[in-house]
Amino acid sequence: MSSIRSQSSPLSTTLDAETLLAWYDRHRRDLPWRAAPGQRADPYRVWLSEIMLQQTTVTAVAPYFTRFVARWPDITALAAASLDQILQEWQGLGYYARARNLHACARAVTDKHSGRFPSDWSELQKLPGIGDYTAAAIAAIAFDRPIAAVDGNVERVMARLYAVGEPLPTAKPQLRERAAALVPRDRAGDFAQALMDLGATICTPRRPRCVLCPWRTACAAAAQGRAEKLPVAGTKPERPLRHGIAFWVTRSDGAVLLRRRPERGLLGGMIEIPSTPWRAEPWTLAEAAVEAPVVAPWSVLPGTVRHGFTHFELELGIVVGRTQDGTAGLWSSTDRLGEHALPTLMKKVARHAISALARSPHDGTAKTGNSPARASRTGAKERR
Ligand code: ADE
Repeated sequence: MSSIRSQSSPLSTTLDAETLLAWYDRHRRDLPWRAAPGQRADPYRVWLSEIMLQQTTVTAVAPYFTRFVARWPDITALAAASLDQILQEWQGLGYYARARNLHACARAVTDKHSGRFPSDWSELQKLPGIGDYTAAAIAAIAFDRPIAAVDGNVERVMARLYAVGEPLPTAKPQLRERAAALVPRDRAGDFAQALMDLGATICTPRRPRCVLCPWRTACAAAAQGRAEKLPVAGTKPERPLRHGIAFWVTRSDGAVLLRRRPERGLLGGMIEIPSTPWRAEPWTLAEAAVEAPVVAPWSVLPGTVRHGFTHFELELGIVVGRTQDGTAGLWSSTDRLGEHALPTLMKKVARHAISALARSPHDGTAKTGNSPARASRTGAKERR
């Protein structure tokens, strides 16, 4: 077991893995992907949970994880699934590149590793969708490799324990080294999970519960009364606002026109309500009409749909048009939209259109066809 004598704590208490592991044995969270105490973890479940937990909370992931393992109990079963089936089950979890990588990774493990995950960090890292952090988490939790899995939560714990005042992201290498030095030879998987639990339940971003912390007497930030002030955040670039117009195209039986997005890129392979490209400038209706999937007179629905992606915020206006029966494409009745792999953004668009049309039905013959009016009403004034 490795331990480090805290330099800056006035109590000079030893920071060690044993103390944290003893706390974990009493307070560990009961999570659906965790092995029971003393049991070996199943690498498939560890991997699946770690992919799902990327940028997503434990609460959001739990029901998805349970459904996935019920439907695909092991890597062979998942590798046999189609990408569409996986995307369908992933619907609503966001960051859909993860679902595509899940599919690719399941196939790579069955094809190149005889259905067994490699235990080595560098081998894990070569698999689709597995970056530095996820490889470390899998190596530690599934294979007890003595390696530190350092995400934002662990960075926060380290910044406080050692009162690191240097802002993020510059402080990252130092925080990583601190975490690595604490990893024990034995029970490295439990240690990784214990740190996650400490960060999630005690050493929280706001109002940390320092009185309950097993490392309280060793924590330099707690001793200085500034745990909540650490880590110091670097300045983040603002997320730009982009604009688009979605086309709610119907035919006489009420079905709505959908299409599949290209395999590569944002929301790749997902089903969408067709829209213009998303760009910095708001669209006029005349400009948008050129990008429409069909030629129709368009009428603008009131309101817009906003959605946050990692790197930008999107505002979509919605226009309604009726097309001829027999128009080729992917058509769905509105009550069967749930059967398609629609990402959250597109579900918002569908909900918005359905409720706006219920309030004031448009027959698609409105006069607005080539109106220069801004189709995205809030455009410029809301631009950030
Ligand atoms: N966050 C990332 N990985 C996690 C895990 N295995 N358990 C709980 N929270 C996590």
